[in-house]
Amino acid sequence: MMRSMRKAISLCLFTMGVAGLVAQTVNPVSEFKVDMQKVGSPIQSTMYGIFFEDINFGADGGLYAELIKNRSFEFDNPFIGWTPFGNVTIQTKNPCFDRNPHYARVSYNKELTGSGLDNEGFKGIGIQAGEKYELSLYARTVSDGPIKLRINLVNHANDLFETKEITIDGKNWKKYNVTLTPGETEAHSRFRITMIDKGTVDLEHISLFPQKTFNNRPNGMRVDLAQALKDLKPGVFRFPGGCIVEGNNKATRYQWKNTVGPVENRPTNINRWNFTFAYKKFPDYYQSYGLGFFEYFQLSEDIGAEPLPVLNCGLSCQYENHDPNENCPVDKLQPYIDDALDLIEFANGPVSSKWGKIRSEMGHPEPFNLKLIAIGNEQWGSLYTERLELFVKAIRAQYPEIRIIGSSGPQSEGADFDYLWPEMKRLKVDLVDEHFYRSPEWFLAGAKRYDSYDRQGPKVFAGEYACHPANRENSFLTALCEAAFMTGLERNADVVHLCTYAPLFAHVDAWQWRPDLIWFDNLSLVKTPNYYVQQLYAHNVGTNVLSLTMENEPVAGQNDLYATAAFDKNTNELIIKIANIGIQYKRIKLNLNGLSSGKHKGTLTLLHSSELEAKNTLSNPSVIVPVSSEIEIEAPITEITLKPQSFSVYRIKDCKLK
Ligand code: AHR
Repeated sequence: MMRSMRKAISLCLFTMGVAGLVAQTVNPVSEFKVDMQKVGSPIQSTMYGIFFEDINFGADGGLYAELIKNRSFEFDNPFIGWTPFGNVTIQTKNPCFDRNPHYARVSYNKELTGSGLDNEGFKGIGIQAGEKYELSLYARTVSDGPIKLRINLVNHANDLFETKEITIDGKNWKKYNVTLTPGETEAHSRFRITMIDKGTVDLEHISLFPQKTFNNRPNGMRVDLAQALKDLKPGVFRFPGGCIVEGNNKATRYQWKNTVGPVENRPTNINRWNFTFAYKKFPDYYQSYGLGFFEYFQLSEDIGAEPLPVLNCGLSCQYENHDPNENCPVDKLQPYIDDALDLIEFANGPVSSKWGKIRSEMGHPEPFNLKLIAIGNEQWGSLYTERLELFVKAIRAQYPEIRIIGSSGPQSEGADFDYLWPEMKRLKVDLVDEHFYRSPEWFLAGAKRYDSYDRQGPKVFAGEYACHPANRENSFLTALCEAAFMTGLERNADVVHLCTYAPLFAHVDAWQWRPDLIWFDNLSLVKTPNYYVQQLYAHNVGTNVLSLTMENEPVAGQNDLYATAAFDKNTNELIIKIANIGIQYKRIKLNLNGLSSGKHKGTLTLLHSSELEAKNTLSNPSVIVPVSSEIEIEAPITEITLKPQSFSVYRIKDCKLK
């Protein structure tokens, strides 16, 4: 079986480019039997979700709408992102913010260059003509009298295209705001602040936001990127990682308590993806935590997804850090466990509780209704399980209603995986997180992966997955393999409860890892074919699995076909998803066994390309997009024809079950 699947994909690859010409033959009819007499296991409404990590400049420089890099001068070199000119120094005495103590002192005595600072943004600053931008900064004068500052936007040709002034008045720290109204669109502009008057001024937390953010949230998200998330209709939103949960060591691990409260006083942390790959170094990659746990919860709500935070379990990244001192000893784990308990209070606790009060002060007195929590990302061995056990005990004792997710390590099979799954059963976690970044062949074979899983143990959370071809690029091939694989997730919805593709975002000029679901630059984004596969699944979940077989077997690779069927009890619709990875049209006799005879209207949504390597790009974003058409079928037996290299989603109306 495995060999013929591989053969099919290699044949596809071989004929790539000419598939459209040879694909005219239509195979003999295969029969799909859908049992419409009995609904199967429920499918979780949250089944298809998203996983966000600050990798590929996904947060600062991406989803988080802040346009200034190193706004608080807190990177290890406080001038990263900034080009000072004239007389500029970094100070820490009497700071404005105790946890972000560095600020810039600018002195001007009619030097030729003037005195001030230029900010480069994140590979430039994206500015749209006609939009408004809110500049804010904290400042105080050091010399006597008020001091005027000039604010500019500078384009790639070094021309100024927006100018405003602010007067700093007073020797105490104060916040100043000015609205910029540029008339030019520029993907790679710079921000400049220049002293006009003589004297000395201190500047801190210099921030520039588009006035429009997603859902008009202050300190909000970039509209197009957040909207793309909402458009996926994600059931669950996993955050903040990924390896970033572990950081490089204990000190740089993700600590959610550092990411809440006033944004100016959230201590900056290095981003562990800065030097992970020797061939792709990003010494300017830090986490401002402007997108912190409050914002993650709020965004979950705004896009209609269940929040799913992942917390550090007391271990450093086991790939990178082999220093035992960088793991928290088991007998000193209490602060880590408290972080988990306090997080649940932050999300769900009454406003009278310590952490519920902080949530309320941040603008959300109502609880966030947290139901899921993951402890540890990709951890393994007894180092992990002995720590996880303590978390499970403490969370169960205080919050028995919270569902706990444990890890099965970084690989989808092998010794660590085989050790961890029985351990997860022993610890009685609710779900086990599985990760697989694997080849097209693996994904096709994986359509059967969950058919034989233990139905009694914890449920599966396929928490990170993506089809990785040799060139590691997004393409129609990878999307099609994922679509085929996901038929197996849905068919096994009794055991697979959640799944999230990874990673989510990548900046075209600053990525570390690919493939990714959504690519963007400073002004626009492109949705990959993989995005559309995720969207087609999430928009067509159904409430229950229906049995769909070909010669009494689930359709998982026979004749290059992969299929799953679901019923939506709320709308009485039958939903059938079929991936045809072959290069031929396929005729299918659909036997909707048990459905009374008659005509049924519906829709067919098709994702197709005759070029397996075809991709969507920023300059050509619509090469592969789903196309919907109205259809009518005859029940209970009808014939459909599947395009070669296609993923088809049929939604058939008025299918009331008997
Ligand atoms: O998604 C990229 C990385 O892959 C994640 O941070 C990690 O969990 C996995 O190894």
